[in-house]
Amino acid sequence: MVIRWFTFILGAALLQSLSALSPVPIPEDEWTEYWRMLRDPAYRLPTTTRPSRYVVSLTPYFNNVTPPIEPFTFDGVASIYIRPTQANVNEIVMHCNDLRIQTLTVSLNNQQIGLVNDTYECEPVYSFLRIRTTEPLQMDSEYVVSVTYTGRLQTNMRGFYRSWYRDSSGFRWMATTQFQPGHAREAFPCYDEPSFKALFDITINREADFSPSISNMPIRSNETLSNGRIAETFYTTPLTSSYLVAFIVSHYRQVSTNNNINRPFDIYARENAGRTGDWALEIGELLLDAMENYTNIPYYNMTENINMKQAAIPDFSAGAMENWGLLTYREAFILYDPQNSNNFYRQRVANIVSHEVAHMWFGNLVTCAWWDNLWLNEGFARFYQYYLTQSVAPELGYDIRFIVEQLQTSMLSDSVDSAHALTNPAVNSPSSVSAHFSTITYARGASVLRMTQHLLGEETFVKGLRKYLNNRKFDVAEPNHLFEALDEAAVEDQALTQYNNITIDAYFRSWSEKAGHPLLTVSINQATGEMIVTQSRWERDTGVSSFPSLWEIPITWTRAGAPDFNNLKPSQILTEQVTTIQRGTQGLEWVIFNKQESGYYKVNYDQNNWILLTRALRHYTQRIIIHELNRAQIVDDVFVLARAGVMTYDRAFNILSFLKIEDAYGPWIAAITGFNFVAGRLAYNSSNLQRLQDEIINLSTGITQRLGYTDSGSDPFMDGLLRMYVMTFLCNNGHTECMAAAKQNFDSWRSGNFVPANMRPWVYCSGLRQGTAEDFDYFWNRFLNEELASEIVVMIQAAGCTLNQASLERFLNAIVDGNNTIRPQDLSTAWSSAISGNEENAMRMFNWLRSNINQVINNLGSAATPISQIASRLRTEAQISEFQAWLDQNQQLLGAAYNTGIQGITTTRRNLEWAQGRTTEFVKYFDTGYLDEEIEDIPGTGEGGDGEDGVPDSANIINLSIIALITTVAINLIA
Ligand SMILES: *[C@@H]1O[C@H](CO)[C@@H](O)[C@H](O)[C@H]1NC(C)=O
Ligand SMILES: *[C@@H]1O[C@H](CO)[C@@H](O)[C@H](O)[C@H]1NC(C)=O
Ligand SMILES: *[C@@H]1O[C@H](CO)[C@@H](O)[C@H](O)[C@H]1NC(C)=O
Repeated sequence: MVIRWFTFILGAALLQSLSALSPVPIPEDEWTEYWRMLRDPAYRLPTTTRPSRYVVSLTPYFNNVTPPIEPFTFDGVASIYIRPTQANVNEIVMHCNDLRIQTLTVSLNNQQIGLVNDTYECEPVYSFLRIRTTEPLQMDSEYVVSVTYTGRLQTNMRGFYRSWYRDSSGFRWMATTQFQPGHAREAFPCYDEPSFKALFDITINREADFSPSISNMPIRSNETLSNGRIAETFYTTPLTSSYLVAFIVSHYRQVSTNNNINRPFDIYARENAGRTGDWALEIGELLLDAMENYTNIPYYNMTENINMKQAAIPDFSAGAMENWGLLTYREAFILYDPQNSNNFYRQRVANIVSHEVAHMWFGNLVTCAWWDNLWLNEGFARFYQYYLTQSVAPELGYDIRFIVEQLQTSMLSDSVDSAHALTNPAVNSPSSVSAHFSTITYARGASVLRMTQHLLGEETFVKGLRKYLNNRKFDVAEPNHLFEALDEAAVEDQALTQYNNITIDAYFRSWSEKAGHPLLTVSINQATGEMIVTQSRWERDTGVSSFPSLWEIPITWTRAGAPDFNNLKPSQILTEQVTTIQRGTQGLEWVIFNKQESGYYKVNYDQNNWILLTRALRHYTQRIIIHELNRAQIVDDVFVLARAGVMTYDRAFNILSFLKIEDAYGPWIAAITGFNFVAGRLAYNSSNLQRLQDEIINLSTGITQRLGYTDSGSDPFMDGLLRMYVMTFLCNNGHTECMAAAKQNFDSWRSGNFVPANMRPWVYCSGLRQGTAEDFDYFWNRFLNEELASEIVVMIQAAGCTLNQASLERFLNAIVDGNNTIRPQDLSTAWSSAISGNEENAMRMFNWLRSNINQVINNLGSAATPISQIASRLRTEAQISEFQAWLDQNQQLLGAAYNTGIQGITTTRRNLEWAQGRTTEFVKYFDTGYLDEEIEDIPGTGEGGDGEDGVPDSANIINLSIIALITTVAINLIA
């Protein structure tokens, strides 16, 4: 499954930012659900019986029913073929949830056997269906459990659920499924855990005027029933886990098809979707091909009659789902209109399709044995989402984007002491686990795989993965299966001999079983060339984790005198706390560790090396010798080091001053993320915020000069994307030319002219901010009539930019109107837009919330989202007290949201204190601007002079390492 990553990462970012262009709120409840299952072994099924096959027939009812049938329900008939796995089993336990069991029998050779109970129910909490037999089950015998039951078409986008849309015939109901992690049990009784793989024969009995139903497999046969319904039976699925089963009952059409009977690939959507499925088909076919080549396991041979379908679903909780043969997506993530969807969506459709296609092998064919190793599915899918897509569509820049979108964001999530390891994530409290769980499982998993790919070398890596897939196909896997296969390949190819024959098992365990990641601190004796490299566990707020650990770190580095950023085979693996490495040259020369950020670690240097790097980065020709990904790395590392106080902000900004001549994608996206964080923290003081914004505008000279303000339509893809992000950022920070361009284009759009899709995010936002209530009304009417899902999201993201109070309230009222003006899947995007559009919005939203609190709770169940958002954007003690007083008055009404609010206030106070403590560093830089610092005295080189800075960072670094060292020693002694 693709989770909507990317939202929480920027934390308290002040203004609409990169994340605003990524409609990716995390489905909180989903992670809570995983968390519950992982924590409590009582959720696990016994393995005393196992299923081999299910024959399931479902009859769904919408609103067109006659009593006694209830609307939005379904009838079900299921036969489940099972065997005991040991002697003396007299209870069969499987799952069911929210099903009413009418009849249940168990037979052996067509003879019913004795059962203890006459009636059955789905037990609450664990959702077990327990069937007690009067005699123990016989070994080596197959039993058939036959159940008739009724169920409900759910409304929460889980299980077998209903959705709606409009096509040229008007309003339509439909039903579709989302079973991961444990919702197949809401459609039929089943062993709803990934390790119980079985074959599924599905039949759907639909109303005659509906389109043929769609499921994992193609239709094998159809039949008109006496009640006029059409029964469609699908071919038997491959041996699969229940969470990968899917079906759709709708008026959908095949909107794009490759018309290839040998390799059928089709896109399904509402009939008025036009040609918007074409891009997903085109890229999907290429990706499926590439994945077949890569794994050497052909998709179309996985089982007989298999085909490939992708469907666009109007209401979808996750981003997409990898049901075998029937990939389901949010509409915005698969329906792409070249005229009206922007570049973000072009690459997003491609890489989400890539993610789901990769799951056919990593996830479906070989499945994680239990959710505690979900990274075996999701880490690979996230990795190929970039790696594979890069191979078939290099112009879309996935190699660059991996760094800023996955590696850097996952390191940020991973650098708190409460972070969990990839394996065995059941360690945290539910409130903190959810956001981290997704980022760490998906993005960290992908980043560690990328590091391993470079450690082994591409050929050996692929060889090992092919072994893994072949060893475990149609079965489940644990991490050791992966490590063993990779080690076997490594031995065959002698890929690790140069590293003292370390094993993948040992190396990978250090990255999968430990939480967090290291900071490497590099101290160079420029006279001798001796480099002292220290590793310590990084913590994002303090710099040093209170839980030290050591990793097996494959390192790469290069130096100014012989720059090589392309050979990513690690030169050695660090295992000790402190390692000395010879640079091999004497005299002043910069070094850079972690080439192309191929390793999963951060890097800090001594002051002299930073000065040398800064000088190079500020130099027109020397700058581009440093790889774009390493320039992005430096920007990100510097912001992160400064946030933790390991580097002062004046020093950080001194290094970042090179952005003024920087015009590439990677460094700028890293910079936007970093500046948004800083802006959020400086927002407590408007004059400092203003000075920061002036500095941002000053630094944007190079990038705006190269990109300009207009999307020409013939730009390289990455430039169109970058301009979209940069202009969104600059307009939000008050950049005059950006705002003028936005205003002009907005007015033109209001007069009915076309504005290129890549310009709309910032043209809409800044246009509304500079516009009137009438401008908002015009915008809102366009929104209400919009059908393209990606454009709907772009408009929701811009709606909060209005500075007109009545318009903002109109938007807020729509969020809670209970009429689906904004679909549930887009609600969290809408809330973020409303709060983050302007600084003024927080108090305006608070005032609105006071008058509408009942409406919010009635229609959304809880006010937790707006409350936590308001709490995070309060800027003064007066605002905090006012908000706190309101929370206290309404404590009872607010329920759990009260605590959310109180926690939010605590965080805001902490951030305020942080800002007060760090302000002098910013002011120092704002006052002086860039200072060319002097190299400290280098004995024997005649270089350097007297550094004029009182507290050199290198001193801090040394202190830090010593603290880390002492703590490590202490912990080791205790342990
Ligand atoms: C039927 O099952 C329930 C539990 O679901 C159990 O408490 C009860 O004793 C059973 N009835 C009989 C007659 O054994
Ligand atoms: C049943 O299947 C046949 C053969 O594929 C097809 O021609 C026919 O249209 C189907 N009938 C219905 C009612 O869908
Ligand atoms: C897959 O391999 C085939 C045969 O070698 C080749 O023709 C095709 O271009 C490859 N496809 C991709 C996407 O790499």
